[in-house]
Amino acid sequence: MKSRSSAVAWTIFVSLALLPATGFAQKATYAKDIEPLWKAKCIACHGAAAPLIEEFDKNKEKYTKEMKGPRMDSYKLLVDFVNGGDAGAIMRRLDDGKSTKDGKPGNMHQFLGAGDEERKKNLQTFKAWVGNWTLKRKAELTAEERKGFLIAEK
Ligand code: HEC
Repeated sequence: MKSRSSAVAWTIFVSLALLPATGFAQKATYAKDIEPLWKAKCIACHGAAAPLIEEFDKNKEKYTKEMKGPRMDSYKLLVDFVNGGDAGAIMRRLDDGKSTKDGKPGNMHQFLGAGDEERKKNLQTFKAWVGNWTLKRKAELTAEERKGFLIAEK
């Protein structure tokens, strides 16, 4: 009886220990993982009050001074910075320096969290969602590399 209940306890313990791992193995989606994170960390400067990229590009300096980056407050707008017109921008800006040529983090990396731990965790979430963490621009991306983007919406 005793060994049986300890076996049960052990099974529960192991299942609980594996929970984060299985959670992580699940597909990352915009709705579940990115939107909440984006709302917490990016919306202040990339939300509805920010200009669309076309407008932003015309007046970069002015908007940057106003702490406004290009607007990214929807799935469609955000993925443009992953594999669209501004492909690789999310990766170049959020990278921690491990994938950049000069070893320096992208200038939006700091906004991923208040401390190293949180930034690391949130970068991992973006990486899981993007799939192919390449810093390449649109013109440099091969068809093969494009296939590597996951960027699931739901
Ligand atoms: C305090 C304001 C602020 C916050 C918070 C912020 N950004 Fe930015 N972001 C800017 C500004 C201003 C620019 C434009 C100037 C520049 O390129 O550095 C910018 C530029 C960018 C670009 C480059 C866009 C392009 O022109 O290709 C990306 C990508 C980006 N931000 C992503 C993010 C993400 C993702 C977050 C959240 C983790 C975030 N930013 C948080 C202000 C902010």
